[in-house]
Amino acid sequence: MESGKHSRMAEGSAYLRAVHMVIDGEPKILQDPLAATLLGPGFEERLSADRERLATAPLVKSRSLICMRSRFAEDELAVAIGRGVRQYVLLGAGLDTSPYRPGHPAGQIDTFEIDHPDTQRWKLERLHRAGVAIGDRLHHVAVDFEKDSLAGRLAASGFDREQPAFFSWLGVSYYLNREAVLDVFRFVGSLPAGSQIVFDFVMDDTELNRTEREAMKGITAMVQRFGEPWLSRFGPQELQRTLRELGFSRTEHFSHALASHRYFEGRTDGLYLDFTTQMMSAIV
Ligand SMILES: C[S@@+](CC[C@H](N)C(=O)[O-])C[C@H]1O[C@@H](n2cnc3c(N)ncnc32)[C@H](O)[C@@H]1O
Repeated sequence: MESGKHSRMAEGSAYLRAVHMVIDGEPKILQDPLAATLLGPGFEERLSADRERLATAPLVKSRSLICMRSRFAEDELAVAIGRGVRQYVLLGAGLDTSPYRPGHPAGQIDTFEIDHPDTQRWKLERLHRAGVAIGDRLHHVAVDFEKDSLAGRLAASGFDREQPAFFSWLGVSYYLNREAVLDVFRFVGSLPAGSQIVFDFVMDDTELNRTEREAMKGITAMVQRFGEPWLSRFGPQELQRTLRELGFSRTEHFSHALASHRYFEGRTDGLYLDFTTQMMSAIV
């Protein structure tokens, strides 16, 4: 991320969720009517100018992934709330709107939105400009994962580490160095039983065949050009082993094949997932 500026990737992700609501078919993978509200008045114009580009494979795939990862995390959150979890932590929240959507289960529990200070400042301005109310149980906590202590910042904002919590960490792990990623796992893995983290990760080259590795080269060059390069990538088995070593008792690799089966089967709007980025869920 460019110093002093909000994450362009956070803005881009919200844009694709807003686009999904307008141009993709039913049923929506994710219902996110507030995404366009937060993006503000320029959204419609940008969408009209982008119509052709939005139909190209890279944008269809990234839109599919971005909507699916939020949907999966929110579905898992609902299950976690059902088993008694009462704290929701959005790590690298970007313009995630789940805590602001009327009727969303997040509204019933304490939510902690963690983000880089530059992105969080920008989001708070967007919320203010759009007139979106911030509930009493919603806490904004500025953290730079590469410099600050997540545990310390959370504790100072009322997070109760004696109670289980659900962590949603979407579109972030690959932008951090490996140590920063492991620090987050270590912290969540040290929380009470029933705590959970859901996140996406970029597949390591060792997991890919030659064609996939070539495709991956193009994608990594593109994210580098955006100034937000991928710094860490994992294989699912290695990741599951690491998570177990760091305190998690159950891990689920929710692969692109499983996600396609659960959320994309029978669609006629062309949305699809590829192998590049996959989901993991781990419970303490
Ligand atoms: C691709 S965006 C994803 C945002 C949101 N989770 C979503 O799915 O739309 C990446 C997010 O990670 C945050 N981020 C990147 N590096 C960070 C760091 N070192 N510390 C804290 N947040 C960081 C950015 O500010 C941004 O909100």
